[in-house]
Amino acid sequence: MQGRKQQRHRFGGSGGTISVSKNLLDLIQNRRAQVAVVGCGYVGLPLALTLWRTGFRVFAVDIDKEKIAALRACRPYVWGVEESELKQALNSGDFVPTQYTDEAAKSDVVLLCLPTPLDENNIPDLSALRQTAEWLSQHLRKGQLIVLESTTYPGTTEEVLRPILERSGLTADRDFYLAYAPHRYDPGSKERRIGDIPRVVGGVGDASLEVACAFYETFTPKVVRVSNTQTAEAVKMLENIFRAVNIALVNELKEVFMKLGVDTYEAIEAAATKPFGFMKFTPGPGFGGHCVPVDPFYLAWRAKQVGMECDFVELAGRINRQLASKIVWRILTECARRGINPSQTPFVIIGVAYKPNIADTRESPAFPIMRLLRSVGVSVCYHDPLVPKLPKLRLYPEFEGMASVELDRLSEKALVIVSDHDVVDYRSLLRAQVVFDTRFAMRKRGISGATIVEV
Ligand SMILES: NC(=O)c1ccc[n+]([C@@H]2O[C@H](COP(=O)([O-])OP(=O)(O)OC[C@H]3O[C@@H](n4cnc5c(N)ncnc54)[C@H](O)[C@@H]3O)[C@@H](O)[C@H]2O)c1
Repeated sequence: MQGRKQQRHRFGGSGGTISVSKNLLDLIQNRRAQVAVVGCGYVGLPLALTLWRTGFRVFAVDIDKEKIAALRACRPYVWGVEESELKQALNSGDFVPTQYTDEAAKSDVVLLCLPTPLDENNIPDLSALRQTAEWLSQHLRKGQLIVLESTTYPGTTEEVLRPILERSGLTADRDFYLAYAPHRYDPGSKERRIGDIPRVVGGVGDASLEVACAFYETFTPKVVRVSNTQTAEAVKMLENIFRAVNIALVNELKEVFMKLGVDTYEAIEAAATKPFGFMKFTPGPGFGGHCVPVDPFYLAWRAKQVGMECDFVELAGRINRQLASKIVWRILTECARRGINPSQTPFVIIGVAYKPNIADTRESPAFPIMRLLRSVGVSVCYHDPLVPKLPKLRLYPEFEGMASVELDRLSEKALVIVSDHDVVDYRSLLRAQVVFDTRFAMRKRGISGATIVEV
């Protein structure tokens, strides 16, 4: 840390010899480096604990006082983070939740896991990143490694982060190391935890790449080096846009297949038997979460700056946004066909998280569906064992504080499956008047019945 004598270590890379701090490499390789993870939300907190498990001393830094207080009191607020592990980490003395402190800023390695949302005009909002960079620039010292993990457009590390950090008077890749390593996270997955997933790393120069790779090699199975930070940023855009476009595509095809009387589920399952050139995506009520609905627009915005359009991104976004009204229209049409009066039938949404088996409700398609149903006079509540109470929702403030209901008196109710968590007893849902299924949840579980309507 500060004051440690800098020795340089020379590597013979393909582009000639590069010089990196041997001290920092030693600290990383011997797990004696002190690491700060700034932004301890859905990705930062599990990452901070993974690093603690790897053997590093970790500062878990967040601007939110309540989150720091919760961590200190051993109350994990991110679903999937075990209280027992947090307790062990806190007791070890090597896991330190904190707001901005000089000591945290001077850590050997600083990872930025900050939010990168869009503003109301769909423009990237990098305010958290700028604020943190300003703070770091006031404390930056020689030999530190700074890595951005937040999702963002190609050019952010070089054009936004680097100039702010260099206000310290230090130069990136010479005095300190700067890299971009997009976070990869499969929320809810027990098979693919942070430490099981290969990571892509790009540095602002060879020395930064070398040090950043050495760091990621300590806790991931494979590190993929790319030429620069712009390429690493583009990798993340590619991954998420690929997903957004394919989800939108399969949802559009479902609409067409329904009109043609084709069974979409059967068609997809059959197509998925092709052992090459096809990847299965399943239709649903639209994409949600912090990534897929947001990240593609980072690239679309950047493309506009260089006179280009990202037509696929815009189209996928449009198809996604239209899904809720299409689903509600089909629900109301089917109610009329079955003689169900929706304004006299309580509706229960099953699953409000944006995808199965997680508790994250950000940008969930449940909320546009709920709002639309309410707007035509339908009484709507929800059942979600993973989300006992709704948090503050960016675009749907009217639902904040709503609590999950028990599934009782089902024969009087209509159900809409939005997210099919495994913990729900799907067979019991057959007792409802009607079950509108947006995800083929019943069929996937081998459940059939006249009350099930796939919408
Ligand atoms: N959630 C995912 O599955 C996922 C996966 C891959 C990548 N990402 C990307 O990772 C980044 C973080 O996402 P997330 O889901 O963890 O977001 P989050 O909102 O859950 O967490 C961000 C945390 O940063 C804190 N914060 C905000 N401003 C801050 C500041 N100025 N200084 C310090 N802390 C600050 C917030 O209080 C919050 O705890 C985003 O760029 C996101 O796109 C997310």
